[in-house]
Amino acid sequence: MCGIVGYIGPKEAYPILVKGLKRLEYRGYDSAGVALLNGNGIEIFKKQGKVIKMEGIMPSETPKATLGIGHTRWATHGIPSDENSHPHYSQSKNIAIIHNGIIENYASIKERLQGRGFTFKSDTDTEVLVNLIEDILLSEKVALAEAVRIALNQVVGAYAIAVIEEGNHDQIVVAKKGSPLVIGIGEGEYYIASDATPFIEYTKQAVYLEEEELAILSLSNGMELKSITNEIKTPYVQELEIELESIEKGGYDHFMLKEINEQPKSIFDTLRGRLLVNEGTIQLGGFNEFKNKFLSADRIIIVACGTSWHAGLVAEYLIEDLARIPVEVEYASEFRYRNPIITERDIVIAVSQSGETADTLSAIKLAKEKGATIFGVCNVVGSSIAREAHAGAYTHAGPEIGVASTKAFTAQVTIFTLIALTLARKKGTITESKFRQLINELDGMPDKVAETLKVDAQAKYIASVYKDVANCLFLGRGINFPVALEGALKLKEISYIHAEGYPAAEMKHGPIALIDEEMPTVVVATKTEHYEKVVSNIQEIKAREGKIIAVVTQGDTVISKIADHVIEVPYVDERLSPLVTSIPLQLISYHIAVMRGCNIDQPRNLAKSVTVE
Ligand code: G6P
Repeated sequence: MCGIVGYIGPKEAYPILVKGLKRLEYRGYDSAGVALLNGNGIEIFKKQGKVIKMEGIMPSETPKATLGIGHTRWATHGIPSDENSHPHYSQSKNIAIIHNGIIENYASIKERLQGRGFTFKSDTDTEVLVNLIEDILLSEKVALAEAVRIALNQVVGAYAIAVIEEGNHDQIVVAKKGSPLVIGIGEGEYYIASDATPFIEYTKQAVYLEEEELAILSLSNGMELKSITNEIKTPYVQELEIELESIEKGGYDHFMLKEINEQPKSIFDTLRGRLLVNEGTIQLGGFNEFKNKFLSADRIIIVACGTSWHAGLVAEYLIEDLARIPVEVEYASEFRYRNPIITERDIVIAVSQSGETADTLSAIKLAKEKGATIFGVCNVVGSSIAREAHAGAYTHAGPEIGVASTKAFTAQVTIFTLIALTLARKKGTITESKFRQLINELDGMPDKVAETLKVDAQAKYIASVYKDVANCLFLGRGINFPVALEGALKLKEISYIHAEGYPAAEMKHGPIALIDEEMPTVVVATKTEHYEKVVSNIQEIKAREGKIIAVVTQGDTVISKIADHVIEVPYVDERLSPLVTSIPLQLISYHIAVMRGCNIDQPRNLAKSVTVE
């Protein structure tokens, strides 16, 4: 949901901004723009479309500037257009702003400013904010940072902003509430960005702004940090652990394909230091601190969105089956608006790759207010959800850049397997031998996933057969029902083919009406407790001339005789099976989308980090 980037220091700002914007395009790609400050004042270059389009409008000699800000947009207020692109000037063009978030009370402020003679060139809430800052600056006769601070006390909503001022070559003012903002500290220079990727090759020293904090980044005075209520704060400087290679494509055509192929390693990294097979134990730091709360909890509520919600559904099967604790899985956006009953005896687990999803963040804030213990399962270290939670476990999948989530999903499922097993052992709901068997198998999962990835050529062939279909059904039972949902979501997201995920047995209550010879159904039909029943479901589809693509356990001789295509995955215990069954579905979607000429890493209308509600 919009990416922001900025630089102040001795270097040429424009190349840093452009490279940074390209790394932040996963946050939105409706338009891109930069504002550069030099002796000519603030010069803005912006264009609807991707960063590359903006590069196309730059003069052959880019204006020299060592201070600049940049923005890549996911449209909220106002259609994607050149006018609505950021940065936005204030009326006098003395101030420029970039903004990620939504100013909810922009309409009333706009009306007030119009009454004071301000006119607006765009439909955005952001242009209202920059003019509010200008109005305060002029009427209160205060410095830029103070005007920003006063303005932010008048707005309702979310923001990560960077503001620059004509003639003020010494500083950038930034602030954050609800949307992320991180400051990179170099030698006599500052970087700002929505996440650390734009400056990772320049500095590893970073300060993540907290809610309602404002920072003045000044070359002569250093960093001054305060709350928007004017309380001086001490910046907490962290050492980042991300490496440059992890945010580059590394020879793959797309980030999504790279990330699919990284899963043996990402699962290994998620397990590393936690699954101690030789000692027969699991060590989950964040969990241990709150283990008594977990053990005495009346129930666990999992809140999440998108793919993370599917991982939450897998967790429901795992925790209820192994640890016998009731689990409810909720869409974060629904949970927070239905006046949920939450008590101090509830544990609320927020699952989020980015750790920034606005609905999930708001859901845990609500649950926290009601006294629940909040546990975060996030991938991005230092993200808002991770910081809002009382405790948590990072997935350690490494940066996920493709908008369609793949390795984050399997890492989330891996963490939940560790949580479920830990709870089960502590509660005595699992025998020692079963526990040992499952941790041994879990330890072998990176290898099993590597073996599963060998189905790539087959997935590609299947993709070539079905790439032109209009609809596709995905079925699964038990713990593989969420895998079917996730398979359908992947196909929808990146190939724009309509796809539905359904519990296999529920198919006969509706979707079966859709089946004809044109309609492929992808069925997860591995050897599980429900195997025979799934075979019957496949027969029901074949009886109606539907096409079947079945994901089966290696050596299956029954389904291969009925299905049109089978993809074999290695045998694993049913509880661990989503880690392998999800892989062929990711690959089929990927290849179909490539064959349809879709934009794999940046599908239309989507963004990776949804910081609006
Ligand atoms: C967006 C992304 C999805 C993601 C969802 C939740 O919709 O496109 O891939 O699953 O947000 O994101 P989170 O970062 O909270 O896991």
